[in-house]
Amino acid sequence: MVKIAPSILSADFCNLAQELSRIRTADWVHVDVMDGAFVPNLTVGVPVVKSIRSHTDMVLDVHLMIDKPARYIKAFAQAGADLLSVHLEADHPTGITRALELMEECGVRKAVALRPITAAQAVLPYLERLDMVLVMTVEPGFGGQPFLERQLDTISQVRRLIDQYNPACQLEVDGGINPVTARKVVQAGANVLVAGSSVYGAPDIELAIAALREGAAG
Ligand code: DX5
Ligand code: ZN
Repeated sequence: MVKIAPSILSADFCNLAQELSRIRTADWVHVDVMDGAFVPNLTVGVPVVKSIRSHTDMVLDVHLMIDKPARYIKAFAQAGADLLSVHLEADHPTGITRALELMEECGVRKAVALRPITAAQAVLPYLERLDMVLVMTVEPGFGGQPFLERQLDTISQVRRLIDQYNPACQLEVDGGINPVTARKVVQAGANVLVAGSSVYGAPDIELAIAALREGAAG
């Protein structure tokens, strides 16, 4: 079953409680944390994740676009994140391993994320201990960018690695997802779809979420 994870990056940050209630028919809430260093944009941090936690029971999927993420794992776990994604490009392998260990200690689900430039094989050293791999289908940093078709290849390759080494691992995609691209990424092997502008930019959010599910079903 494909999961839909609306990204609150495209929501109205002044009305987050209401914006969360508008995505009730989705599965997860995706929160984009950006530090202005790993990506050229700044968004929200630990206090906002904590507030979101107090307003929803949905799975809180926190995408950390920050340098040396091990520094903040505990804080985001304590704020109520259910799942944390760290970018493989954000630290040396020892730092990534440390971040995953901290997630384990804190009892949160563990994911690594790949920028479009990063090869699928980069997940291999971590794959057996992961709950999810996140393949970016745009350059991280901003919502509303066009889907990068060439990432379909990376998604298929990651799917093959997951099937071989850790079949329980989920495969999430993020960036430029709409009902048309949803179909392509699911055919390539994705099973969790992040969508920002195609959900919050739609006149009817419930319809937009249903359209993503239909697109995913092919
Ligand atoms: C981009 C973020 C995405 C973003 C997706 O760096 O990671 O989660 O919100 O937005 P859309 O769906 O508009 O591409
Ligand atoms: Zn994201």
